[in-house]
Amino acid sequence: MSHYPALRLRRTRAAAWSRRMHAETVLTPADLIWPLFVTEGDAEEPIASLPGVSRWSVKAIAERAREAAALGIPCLALFPNTPAGLRSDDGREALNPDNLMCRAIRSIKDAVPGIGVLTDVALDPYTSHGHDGLVDAAGYVLNDETAAILTEQALVQAEAGADIVAPSDMMDGRVGLMRTALEAGGHTNVQIMAYAAKYASAFYGPFRDAVGSRGLLKGDKKTYQMDPANSEEALREVALDIAEGADSVMVKPGLPYLDIIVRVKNAFEVPVFAYQVSGEYAMIEAAAAAGAGEREALVMETLMAFKRAGCSGVLTYHAPLAARLLGA
Ligand code: PBG
Repeated sequence: MSHYPALRLRRTRAAAWSRRMHAETVLTPADLIWPLFVTEGDAEEPIASLPGVSRWSVKAIAERAREAAALGIPCLALFPNTPAGLRSDDGREALNPDNLMCRAIRSIKDAVPGIGVLTDVALDPYTSHGHDGLVDAAGYVLNDETAAILTEQALVQAEAGADIVAPSDMMDGRVGLMRTALEAGGHTNVQIMAYAAKYASAFYGPFRDAVGSRGLLKGDKKTYQMDPANSEEALREVALDIAEGADSVMVKPGLPYLDIIVRVKNAFEVPVFAYQVSGEYAMIEAAAAAGAGEREALVMETLMAFKRAGCSGVLTYHAPLAARLLGA
């Protein structure tokens, strides 16, 4: 006689050992990239809109690198809070080989030579108008002029010891220029992780506080970052960056764009990373603080979602918490 129901999908979920055995996706500390903010001076500077995240001095950033290494986190992503007096219309401080970013890279590499360092290539932490590139009189961000400067910026970062340069500016053609310049400069093994599908998002607010560009930003970034309405365009962006020599591509923000991750992963054989951005972090922290959810469970569920969608890894401010929870 036939039994009811014919199929019991709950059978494999009944015991913890079985759930572990049937897990289709794994998350490990090796999947995490930890974004860190660096600032002048010696003091730790908490960022109000990113509770639990601080800006660190060049010296203290080395401590964070040791912490990351002990937790099994393979890579750090660096962002500078450039002093106001060094910000200019053309963002020229980005090209100073002794700027905060370059000193932070060297500080980390001195302390933990084996950890990966990813650097953001864009002018927004260095410009007096808060845009990622050069602006013309009408406020339009100039493409080719910006791409040329960003290429120099990527070289300066590579010279200081960056392992991965990550252009986050969304100018056309910059990956190809950077690859050519890195090869010519002898940096054949410096990787390019392209912020390929980066959206003009409302989730970047706390980051702009952290790098001090929120109050400075004139207008918005919609003439270079993508429209949240689009996904075919994301595939074209990814195709272009791969053709120009990107080693890996990023989708950003993260959770609201999981569909983009899946489409990119289905269309291309390339490592895809997600950036769970500052506003997403703040949202989880706010939910936990309001008693709407349990912080640790929220963090781990969202990170697993990126792996399930096909990501090779995730940039997340929760990286040290997640690594600890993973039992590193
Ligand atoms: C800037 C840059 C931004 C982020 C990373 N690089 C902000 C922006 O484009 O305005 C956002 C990251 C975050 O919100 O955590 N080129």
